Parts: sequence; structure tokens; C-alpha cells
Amino acid sequence: MRITVVGCGYVGLVAAACYAELGHEVICVDNSAEKIGALQAGETPIHEEFLPELLKDYGGKTLRFTTALSEAVRASSVIFIAVGTPPCASGEADLSSVESVAREIAQSLTGYKVVVEKSTVPVSTNDAIRRVMSLNKGARGAFDVISNPEFLREGTAVIDFLYPDRIVIGSDSERATALLQQVYCPLTDGSYYKRKDAIPAPDHARIPAPLVLTSAASAELIKHASNAFLAMKISFINAVASICETVGADVEEVRTGMGLDSRIGPRFLHPGIGYGGSCFPKDLSAFRAVARESGYDFRLLEEVTRINEEQKQRFLRKLRKALWTLKGKHVGVLGLAFKGGTDDIRESPAIGIVESLLQEGVEITAYDPAAMDRAEQVLPPTVKFACDAYAAAEEVDALVILTDWEEFANLDLRRLRPLMHYPIIVDGRNLYDPSALTKYGFFYMSVGRPDMIPQRAPNVRRVA
Ligand code: UDX
Repeated sequence: MRITVVGCGYVGLVAAACYAELGHEVICVDNSAEKIGALQAGETPIHEEFLPELLKDYGGKTLRFTTALSEAVRASSVIFIAVGTPPCASGEADLSSVESVAREIAQSLTGYKVVVEKSTVPVSTNDAIRRVMSLNKGARGAFDVISNPEFLREGTAVIDFLYPDRIVIGSDSERATALLQQVYCPLTDGSYYKRKDAIPAPDHARIPAPLVLTSAASAELIKHASNAFLAMKISFINAVASICETVGADVEEVRTGMGLDSRIGPRFLHPGIGYGGSCFPKDLSAFRAVARESGYDFRLLEEVTRINEEQKQRFLRKLRKALWTLKGKHVGVLGLAFKGGTDDIRESPAIGIVESLLQEGVEITAYDPAAMDRAEQVLPPTVKFACDAYAAAEEVDALVILTDWEEFANLDLRRLRPLMHYPIIVDGRNLYDPSALTKYGFFYMSVGRPDMIPQRAPNVRRVA
């Protein structure tokens, strides 16, 4: 099929590359000439497993990049809108990019087209797109607007796209639904998974991919409600972790016990320094605004956000407790990305914590396997960047773990300890078994577990 994807951001670019992988002819459009130029030159703008391979295999062939939206629309039968919907000051999603793209699509229609909203948008946006298209020369019967939310996660975006838990198509038109079903046919009939060159399946993949057909409004709500529910799960376990700290329980044991209940499940129950990223914080405030608008005061979501903010403060208090005073101390920071496996620092709790530490006069040496270039652009020049985790630990009064990168969970502790001024680790992601760490002479503080002191006298090299 001939497909246009408007917006070369995270969702748009990954979706476009994956549609090409499914055998479609794809045109990816963006209004940033710089972005399009880089993609045409073969660059991969985001850190995402399998994406460079897909861009290399299909780029310039069945996957093309352009700034010319009208031409792309004329050449395609299905047009996905995957532009950004950033939050306004009120918390509502700013839909101006969606609107201007819809307007331009309407003015470029030739023959029947299906316009698919893929951006995360408030309920009823489908109707608004239809209205705006009708007001801009979009003749009745020349197009349908349907909703097909995307659930991919950063870091595993390509796998999530090709092995989805579900594909949701929200539509009030049989004709449009049939066309979109054709787009996803290789996933829903399982033929993609039989290909020898298919990207390998993750554990517990649902094959073939389940298809959920709903109304447009339900599809829009499925996306917001899913993200809000996942954020709620994280805040719930973070709140439980706080109770664990006061009663001397171990949140890792609690979450294991809870997660084994098949009605609860183990995923998204990892306590930490709170959720971040380009979706959860934004989608939660947008969903709250949607609820408010509809006359429902969704205070539960307010609490989810409050617990999330509080989690960063709790972590800072923990570090303060470990170091007594922060001013003038030297702290090594492991992790700046909002989660492991990505270079994205948008709404990263790690960045917020680093900024708070800087305000308190702490000297910072940071390391992140992928996000340092981006972090350098937002953090003040006083922050030093190290070439690896060990270099970040040199002469520090404490080492803090802020992102769940796998390499931070496998540090050579024997090598690490003599590098540090004080052997103090404050782990915001619970990457270590506390008792194993204390064997190496570390003081270890984590989330929702008792603080641990070294099993043998720490070899502190210098006394403050
Ligand atoms: C999320 C949704 O998972 C995805 O379905 C949607 O399409 C986009 O938003 P993403 O933002 O890529 O995906 O990251 P995700 O893996 O969901 O993590 C979000 C945040 O929650 C991260 O900061 C992560 O560290 C944190 N998190 C996640 C926890 O603190 N604990 C957990 O158990 C899981």
C-alpha cells in the first residue's frame, strides 16, 4: 500500500520504517528541512535498536523522506498524522500542529483517502479533524478520519511496533477500517512472523498481533487511559516503597508478591525516582484536562502526579542523609536519560535531580551511555562528563544511580570502590542486591529497602 506518515518524531519515524518493513511504500513528511535532510543523508536521529538497519534497508527505496506534504498525500491512500502534541500551560494538549496538517491534507485530496490520527490526542479530536477538513475543501465522501493509537516504548520501539500487545483501530467507517486492516495484515494474519528476515520476536510476543476494533472515541480513550493506568501503577508502588522505608519492609519482596497475582502482574511495578519521558507526564496532564472538560474531576491522576514529584524529593533527602551536608560535595551521577536504552532526556527525573543538586552547591561528574550529548545542551557547563561509569566515580563523596541502564547493574564493584572518596552508593533504581553490595564495603541506600552499611570496615581513603 502507499502510505504517508506526517511527522518524523519518535512515533512517526519508527512507524514509517516499520510500515516499510511490512512491505508498504512509505513517504515520511516533516516540515523541518534539516530533519529531512539528515534522514535523506542516511542519519538515524534517535537511539533505537533495529531502526538504523530498517532505515538503511528501505531508505531511498520504499521509504522516502520529504517536506512536500501535498505531493505525498496525492500519492498515498492512507495518511497517518504523527505530529507532536505538546502540553499548553493549562495542561491541555496543543493540537495546532494536528490542525494545520489536517488543513493541508484536506486541500491536497485527490480520490478517497483515509486520514489516521496516530498522535496521542484528547477524545473527540477525530471529530475535530473531520470538521477542519470539511471546512478546508475536504469534500464529503472523499476521506474518512480514524484513530489508531500507538503504544510503542522508547528503547524498544521497533519491537513494540512489530510485536504489539494489540492494534487498536477506532473508526466509524467500514471502508476506512478495511484499508487500515490491510496495512496491518502481515501482523494480524501472522505472515510477517513467518518471514526468515523478520526482526526477532521478544519473549511473550502475541502472535499474531491481536486486533481491537472500536469507535474512534473509545480508541482515543484507550491510549490516554492506558498511559494513565501505567503511571498510576508506578506511583502506587513508589507510595508502597515509602511505607516500606518507614516500617522496615523490602519493596522488592512486596512487589514480587504482588506481581505474582495474575490480576496485578509484575510489570510497571518497579519503584524508583519516578516516571519521566515525553509521554507519561504530558499524557497525564492532558487526560486530566480531558476529564475536567467532560465534567469529571479525576483527582486520582492528580495524586499520581504528586507522588511522582515527591519521589525525586525523597531521593534527594536520602542523599542528604547519607552525606549530611551537600554544599561542596562531589557526586558521581550514573544515568541522565529518563530510562535505560534511550538517549531521551525529556522530563527525565535524573536531569531534575542533577539540577537540584547543582542548586545546592554540589559538584557533579556524570556519565550516561547515550544521553550525554543531549544533557550537555540543557545542563550548565559546570557539570563534568565522564567517559564511563568508573571515571564518573573517581574521588566522589557518593555515587548516585539515576537511570536503569543494564551496564550500571553490572559494575565491577571491586574496581569501583577504591576509586571513590567515600564508598556510598544511593541507587534510585534498585539495581543491586543490597547484601551483595555491602560485602564490597559500600554503604548502600536504595528505594523502599533498608539502608545498608558495609559488612567490613570501609576503606575510606581520606577523612573529610
Ligand atoms: C510510555 C508507554 O509505556 C508507551 O506505551 C507509550 O506509547 C509511550 O509512553 P515510554 O515513555 O517510552 O513509553 O517509557 P516507559 O517504558 O513506559 O517508561 C516511562 C517511565 O516510567 C520511565 O521514566 C521509566 O523509568 C518509568 N518506570 C517504568 C518506572 O519508574 N517503573 C516501572 O516499573 C516502569
